[in-house]
Amino acid sequence: MSDLIHYQFDDGLALIGLTYPPVNALSQALRSALSAACERAASDPTVRAIILHGSPFSAGADIGEFGSAASHAEPSLPDILMRLSLIDKPLIAAIDGLALGGGLELALACGYRIAVPEARVGLPEINLGLLPGAGGTQRLPRLIGAEAALDLIASGQSLKAAKAAESGLVDRLARSSATLLEDARTFARKLLADAAPAQPSAPFSEPGISLPATFITDYQAKHAARWKGRQAPQRVLAAIQAACERPLAEGLRREAELFREADASTESAALRHVFFAEREASKVPGINADTMLRPITQVAVIGAGTMGGGIAMNFANAGIPVILLEAQAQTLDRGLTQIRRNYEISVQRGKLSSRQLEQRMALLKGSLDYADLADADLVIEAVFENLEVKQNVFRTLDQVCKPGAILASNTSTLDVDAIAAVTQRPGDVIGLHFFSPANVMRLLEVVRARETAPDVLATTLKLARRIGKIAVVSGVCFGFIGNRMFEPYSREAHRLLLEGATPAQIDKVLTDHGLAMGMLAVQDLAGIDIGYLIRESRREVIGHDPSYCKLGDELHTLGRFGQKTMAGFYRYEGRERLDDPEVTALAERVAGELHIQRRQIADEEILERCLFGLINEGIQLLDEGTALRSSDIDLVFINGYGFPAWRGGPMHEAECIGLDRLLARLQHYRQALGAYGEMWFQPAPLLQRLVAAGRSRIEKI
Ligand code: CAA
Repeated sequence: MSDLIHYQFDDGLALIGLTYPPVNALSQALRSALSAACERAASDPTVRAIILHGSPFSAGADIGEFGSAASHAEPSLPDILMRLSLIDKPLIAAIDGLALGGGLELALACGYRIAVPEARVGLPEINLGLLPGAGGTQRLPRLIGAEAALDLIASGQSLKAAKAAESGLVDRLARSSATLLEDARTFARKLLADAAPAQPSAPFSEPGISLPATFITDYQAKHAARWKGRQAPQRVLAAIQAACERPLAEGLRREAELFREADASTESAALRHVFFAEREASKVPGINADTMLRPITQVAVIGAGTMGGGIAMNFANAGIPVILLEAQAQTLDRGLTQIRRNYEISVQRGKLSSRQLEQRMALLKGSLDYADLADADLVIEAVFENLEVKQNVFRTLDQVCKPGAILASNTSTLDVDAIAAVTQRPGDVIGLHFFSPANVMRLLEVVRARETAPDVLATTLKLARRIGKIAVVSGVCFGFIGNRMFEPYSREAHRLLLEGATPAQIDKVLTDHGLAMGMLAVQDLAGIDIGYLIRESRREVIGHDPSYCKLGDELHTLGRFGQKTMAGFYRYEGRERLDDPEVTALAERVAGELHIQRRQIADEEILERCLFGLINEGIQLLDEGTALRSSDIDLVFINGYGFPAWRGGPMHEAECIGLDRLLARLQHYRQALGAYGEMWFQPAPLLQRLVAAGRSRIEKI
């Protein structure tokens, strides 16, 4: 019939299999083939019931089609599903693997659903800035109730079918993947024997009837902070409201209207960009599916501080044994106690069982002796951020580790080539830059040093996936991708304070833009002393600017190290962050000494200087080859620095703003800020080339 559909007639049943690898995305071609197969089954009088199946069932609409004409091209998914719901023969969706988005909506348009217990079902459209657009917002509330439906759609999470069966989303569980079709046939014959209707009546025919009148507004208020700046959740709410208030046909029309708006939104374009960026990041020149991987069954982490402990937890969480090495017994005990405490918090929050806690702790072994690392397949050093200290650790590792062990440094700024050079096996050395808290943050910067072997890189990328991280490959340079871009961002925030902005003003501009935290609140959290130490290590590069992070240096002198001393850029009362007149006075004094004119600074200038500075640096990183692609840079900023995913990352945002405008604004600040502007606002040569060539995408030319 078609390569995309497998059609089989079996004793009164039509079995229609979706066969469009890898995930049965409902592209225009698959929709056409599916529609034709269903019409054939509907019009064949010998067919009494229809089973739709696929392995996986379907990951939903073809994301690559969104924003293009193909997305709405005939036959549209909503039309097909409407037609399926009108066929007067029982339709059974047999779900294996997953039914997500349009895939689950396809199953919802069928009268019945049978699933493998481990299959995952969900409506993740909100994660793409969309809402379910093929009836999900109308049919699901009628099946499981408006509140349960809204919880599933608004979370964007998927459920195991075994769990979904409890709410009635799935009617029956198959015994296993292998028996799914047999179990579906049995189910179909039972329905026929019982003369079951093609579409059973909806358990919640009026989904809104028992809900309070304020249900939608209450839901909105409860999630307002998490949804700040986003439109997709509002559209989801509007669609559910329609399900509660209108008949099905009208509700479906409203959903279609909202979906069209969402499909055309910048938010959805940004989140789709992030979706593909995440998949693209693992494609790295020099390695491929054939690259041999090294087995990793034992990991060791050196340093049981906050970072080392957090790194170790990642592996224990994934069931991989970890040796945690420290120099002092007391420090080791403190580190292990802290890890246990972190797990206990997860138990209190219901995210972990006590048994899992004990299992994870059992995977963590403390050690004070480097000899215990002899069998480790991967050693990650997380000691003090100092080149000599780290080089000494690597000299020792070179002595004690077995041949083929991967030796990784968790440095955030240092030269991994210089670390690798002290060993006899530089090919085995790599940078693995975790972000704090390392057990929570999704980003892992994988630093490919000059001699890092391809199998070492491939193994760490695979391992990153296993421990749930988004890995982005960076070349060697000060700060790699993230901290190198963070630097101009931080520099501008410091400088703007001298020019007249307050910490609260700067941070508000940034959080209003969607950043998880303002720059100065971040500095207070990370520690003014840490920022100072990093600057100390590179005064030769920054020393020509007397204003460079000067306020941070002054705060350091005053012992205002940030939150830990209850004073930094802000002062703290408990957890409350307050502007401090002392900091303003300090800024005034330093500005006076440096002859910096203080003035009222517009929010727009704050945003542009902080944001455009870091984008300019990102473009430079791409030109140098430190970053492989612009979308990798977006992933770093979203997953490591709290940049809002719904803006697509700084580079995607720059493309939306327009590269010519970005260049013009950089040139403006270069002139307007005098010698300071001349020093720091030089547009990256690649940006200039892109604009001259009339290009709109940030890519190397
Ligand atoms: N459309 C197009 N391509 C898709 C896709 C989709 N819905 N889902 C996955 N793919 C592609 C990926 O891009 C990837 O392609 P490459 O190999 O070329 O990079 C391939 O399928 C495999 O995907 P993953 O690498 O992500 O594999 P995984 O096993 O880790 O995850 C998955 C599989 C859970 C399905 C994950 O890909 C995923 O979450 N996909 C998105 C699901 C989704 O959001 N569906 C809703 C779509 S919107 C919708 O349906 C609107 C509507 O209401 C009609």
